Amino acid sequence: AAELNPAVLPLDWLLGTWESDEPGEGCFPTINPFRYIETLYFSHVGQPVINFMFNAFHAESKKPLHRECGFIRVQPGTNRVAFIIAQNSGLVEVEEGELTGQQLNLQTHSLARISFAKEPHVQQISRVFQLRPDGRLEQTVSMATDNQPLMQHLHITYRRSS
Ligand code: HEM
Repeated sequence: AAELNPAVLPLDWLLGTWESDEPGEGCFPTINPFRYIETLYFSHVGQPVINFMFNAFHAESKKPLHRECGFIRVQPGTNRVAFIIAQNSGLVEVEEGELTGQQLNLQTHSLARISFAKEPHVQQISRVFQLRPDGRLEQTVSMATDNQPLMQHLHITYRRSS
């Protein structure tokens, strides 16, 4: 295995595979609340980049739902972090933010989508990843759409599985 590039050392706590602990909770003013399970993979090949893949499934039927994958970079010498993300819904996104201890706060920096993406269109995403003192990883995602202001869409905790 390649040695971890020092540029991404501040994010070494993310590396590995994470499985939702209990089902995550999804909500938004315009939809019925739902429960989901999710597996996160963070890996590297020695580049100054972390590769990631998030796969979500319906909590009961286990049907594949949301998927996203991409790359994470850190601006050298700073705590500035960028996520480069592709989502299966047809959205591509750059999120940027700051790493404080083992908490990452990210916000949409730029966003584009396929011409026939489902409406309403997402206009803004903000998310927080936090490694908790009990070793669990927590992710909270908020979004704004064409017709709703920034509000929580997802909350989930994960347990490290490898
Ligand atoms: C609905 C965006 C992640 C499950 C929606 C809607 C949007 C959206 C725009 C429609 C809201 C409306 O109709 O007003 C996103 C974005 C995500 C994300 C930007 C990631 C950053 C997830 C994940 C799951 C999920 C991880 C887990 C399974 C759902 C479900 C609905 C929904 C079940 C309602 C049914 C539907 O419209 O398909 N999401 N979502 N989403 N999302 Fe997400």
